[in-house]
Amino acid sequence: MSKIKLLNIVGARPQIIKSSAISRAIRTGFSDQITELTLHTGQHYDKEMSDVFFDELEIHKPDFNLGVGSARHGRQTAAMITGIEEVLLKEKPDGLLLYGDTNSTLAGAIAASKQHFPVIHIEAGLRSFNKTMPEELNRIISDHSSTLLFAPTNAAFKNLMLEGFRPENSPPYTIDNPKIYLSGDIMYDNSLFFAELAERKKSELLDSLALERDKFILATIHRDMNTDDPNRLEAILSTIRNLAEEYKIPFVMPFHPRTMNSLKSGLASLLENLRKSKYIRIIPPVSYLTMTFLEKNSFMIVTDSGGVQKESHFFRKPCVVLRKETEWIELVANGTVMLADANPDLILHAFKGYFQPGTNLEYPGFYGDGRTSEFILREILSLLER
Ligand code: UD1
Ligand code: UDP
Repeated sequence: MSKIKLLNIVGARPQIIKSSAISRAIRTGFSDQITELTLHTGQHYDKEMSDVFFDELEIHKPDFNLGVGSARHGRQTAAMITGIEEVLLKEKPDGLLLYGDTNSTLAGAIAASKQHFPVIHIEAGLRSFNKTMPEELNRIISDHSSTLLFAPTNAAFKNLMLEGFRPENSPPYTIDNPKIYLSGDIMYDNSLFFAELAERKKSELLDSLALERDKFILATIHRDMNTDDPNRLEAILSTIRNLAEEYKIPFVMPFHPRTMNSLKSGLASLLENLRKSKYIRIIPPVSYLTMTFLEKNSFMIVTDSGGVQKESHFFRKPCVVLRKETEWIELVANGTVMLADANPDLILHAFKGYFQPGTNLEYPGFYGDGRTSEFILREILSLLER
């Protein structure tokens, strides 16, 4: 039997991290059956948004980098589609692996489905039911261009069924007869794998940031709905500053470049005010091991990130989500995520709810057994084997 060839499409920070789970599983268990190629669209390009992950997580380095960079949606996605199509036609992979819901995911789905290459979507079926989010359109289009769909949660699997995907389909699977799986989440594989290493490698970080274990809050903000609307960004950050001062608890905030750009260009005095507070630590984007360490040692997490709210669960931390809705609805139902939008009253309410000592929260296993990557690769092999 000859090896199958899979082409990974990555571009944005969370995808690079996600692909490390699959890369590691190929390296450790499937290297005699699978050849892996990686295409980086170049959507994220700053060292701390891209290279740092390849170096730290020992990920298969990109075989192709399109260097697309930042642009409006149409221009950026079009450049990616063009570049991905070229590589597909040259490399003729047996399948294209897509992660998540970014423009890089969308571009991969369109390029591959139009050229009749099977699309394998990891993190399929997630829905916010808010089509003003670019990610929601990317998810729907990617799912409906896919042949194999790996849903991380029960809710995601059900969403696919509600959109007409049929669990009873039988092989051979195609874009018109796709196969859906409830697989678990490869990011849980990663958190389990890297948690201890992060603790060992990053233990000096708390001192360098003047933080104490379990006595700080980790906050990230990067969603366009928050960064591109100065009113929302100001409401969120002023509330964070007030909470930090009133409750005398440090907030550490690794800012995405998008957030920093918005602050510098439209909210410079707020940025200055934040920097003046002895409880606010604004830092550049951090590596995944550093982020894991901060999550693990924080008291609470405040975020608008999809990945970070889930990691809050993996590390058993309550989480305030700066959005109206979430794709990870099991966390809200579980009471360990509260949706606070960009509303100061809701943020305060959620913060206070989690800040009280003695709050009893449970963190059940919603995201598989930590071996989701192996499951996905076994299934791909059984269906694509030549
Ligand atoms: C993208 C994804 C989002 C994901 C996020 C992960 C889309 C539509 N959005 O959002 O779903 O949650 O990545 O982080 O795909 N920039 C830099 N340096 C970089 C990258 C970006 O300065 O290396 C700045 C640029 O000003 C750019 C802005 O960030 O215009 C936005 O970048 P972009 O990739 O378009 O979207 P993200 O907000 O990162
Ligand atoms: N992350 C990181 N450094 C940071 C911020 C986030 O390594 O400074 C990681 C985080 O641990 C998670 C992923 O990036 O694994 C989430 O990416 P992001 O929040 O950018 O996007 P989203 O998940 O919302 O698409």
